[in-house]
Amino acid sequence: MAIRFILDGETIEIADAPATATLLDHLRYTMRRTGTKEGCAEGDCGACTVLVGEARGSGVGWRAVNACIQFLPMLHGKALMTVESLTAAGVPPTPLQACMAANGSSQCGFCTPGFVMALHGRSIGAVGSDLPVEDVIAGNLCRCTGYGPILKAGRAAPPIARDDVALAAQLAAIPARASGKGWHAPESVEALAALLAATPDARIVAGGTDVALWVTKGLHDLGPVVFVGDIPELRRLDEDADGLTIGAAVRYADAHAALGRLHPDLGELVRRLGGLQVRNAATVGGNIANGSPIGDGPPALIALDATLTLAGAEGRRTIPLADYFLDYGRQDRRRGEFVESVFVPRPHADDLIYIAKLSRRFDSDISAVCGALRLRIVDGIVAEARVAFGGMAPTPRRATGCEAALTGRTFDEATIAEAADALAGDFTPLDDVRGSAAYRGQAAASLLWRMWHREAGHRVSVRDVEAADA
Ligand code: FAD
Ligand code: FES
Ligand code: FES
Repeated sequence: MAIRFILDGETIEIADAPATATLLDHLRYTMRRTGTKEGCAEGDCGACTVLVGEARGSGVGWRAVNACIQFLPMLHGKALMTVESLTAAGVPPTPLQACMAANGSSQCGFCTPGFVMALHGRSIGAVGSDLPVEDVIAGNLCRCTGYGPILKAGRAAPPIARDDVALAAQLAAIPARASGKGWHAPESVEALAALLAATPDARIVAGGTDVALWVTKGLHDLGPVVFVGDIPELRRLDEDADGLTIGAAVRYADAHAALGRLHPDLGELVRRLGGLQVRNAATVGGNIANGSPIGDGPPALIALDATLTLAGAEGRRTIPLADYFLDYGRQDRRRGEFVESVFVPRPHADDLIYIAKLSRRFDSDISAVCGALRLRIVDGIVAEARVAFGGMAPTPRRATGCEAALTGRTFDEATIAEAADALAGDFTPLDDVRGSAAYRGQAAASLLWRMWHREAGHRVSVRDVEAADA
């Protein structure tokens, strides 16, 4: 079946689109839309930023994504805007482009289309446009201009009102799809379960922010692919008094606000997970399902006692998230099963929560250590402790020795010292380019102290010290 999407009002039809052809290659090599640049081909530089629109009510919801890690079939039924869409013969530059020129926000210009598209997204109210300009372009790299003039242009650019009613009607006219050359796109959880029962070895792709790199960097052949990113049931986000149920295909950018309402540290963690273009594609389910020892979501969700629901043709089962991670590269997912949703209970009023990500770069970097603590403190005593870390073991894991050293004890410095010491028995940390085992061991223990000092109102970061000295 051909895939179809709308570009500048025109329906683009691609017959036999291979499962893993990237949108960037199609734009540059087939359509000759070479304004969209290739820098890294792994989602890290933002040079390939485009805007993708989905029908939302009678309008269209836009989001900035990296075209280098979007597979073409993911575009089916969507609208696309590239840097060429902003200009046409005789049309003046957008106010944002004028601001970029007026502020000297471009030198070699290679990164410029990506910045323009990320900032244009902000101007038209795309997902994440409520974030500060710095966060909107945290996924874009520029080697020569310096970020000051780009930020200045972004701040000066006025909002742009769009009328997408006609576009929404065009999108609605595109028939749903089911399959293509080497790929399937089931439209419901039921259809997905049946498909995986018949082809349990098919590779599930949600946002593709992990899997696409196996193709663009690893040059792997994925075999049959099942796209799950647009299945409506998997994109549900339900927030109630008990907590938050996040469908596996909910993008981090869409879950950001709700997670931040559960606890501000969770919101801050999501703000630092990739750049906005990555969070606009990356799903919460993919972050869990990949079983990575350095994924940011799992330690925090484990500390909050999240549960995971897996589904398949045999039915559903719900397990504590902590039990999903068996060993490096091995998860408790049976053949034919998929991750359906994760439930995060709302923290208790007595819960003290501390979540921190340590990485070499503040923005858009992978964690060396990610730690999360939830202590239920009743009358000064730690009644319950959940401590989980990423980057410390072959899987995200609870620190059970540390938890035992905290539980039933007075919440004071002596207890924190013992709990920090106990961590050494909980983990043999990873030792790699992101951090030596010794660094990780010390850094993990320091997170307990940072929690203690924050709770005691002490200064805990350079930023606090700078603020106090100002
Ligand atoms: P995909 O790539 O689609 O899939 C990932 C894995 O999960 C695959 O094995 C796939 O088969 C499986 N899978 C997906 N959905 C399901 C399902 N429903 N059921 C069963 N299996 C499933 N991660 C971080 O944690 N922190 C970061 O700061 C971070 N920064 C990044 C920066 C860049 C530039 C990039 C490219 C990635 C970054 N990542 C980061 C990794 C990645 O974005 C996340 O792990 C993301 O959440 C993966 O989700 P996805 O939907 O893109 O997964
Ligand atoms: Fe660098 Fe796509 S080319 S993010
Ligand atoms: Fe040269 Fe940004 S202007 S990389």
